[in-house]
Amino acid sequence: MLASCAPMSNVSGRLEENGLLVDTDAFRIVQNGKTTAWRAYIVVRNEALKFPVCIYRFSENDYSALWMQCAHQGAEVQVAGDYLHCPAHGSEYDNRGRVTNGPAETNLRTFPVSVSSNQLFIDLRKR
Ligand code: FES
Repeated sequence: MLASCAPMSNVSGRLEENGLLVDTDAFRIVQNGKTTAWRAYIVVRNEALKFPVCIYRFSENDYSALWMQCAHQGAEVQVAGDYLHCPAHGSEYDNRGRVTNGPAETNLRTFPVSVSSNQLFIDLRKR
């Protein structure tokens, strides 16, 4: 099935000792009890985290997890489809967290994502 431009899903995830657990079902778009498409990304907001984490889904086993704090001066970036934009001074990042437009000079922080049993584990130990 194809990735979709359907509205993003905000989820809280479950905070564990070393990271976040997120159900892969958060990416499903379900109509009449059937998965009709997959969201291209979700945003995980958890009150224990200072910034949200954007998770892009590229395939069943390929995800990126991006800390949504701008590498320039620390504002919260916003998702704009397949890229992220900083409203403070205009920096942009691609869906792997690589800076594509300044003034930021470095990439967003990213976290390893592992997939098992319909769950993602986002390893936050280096956040
Ligand atoms: S804080 Fe994001 S571009 Fe300046």
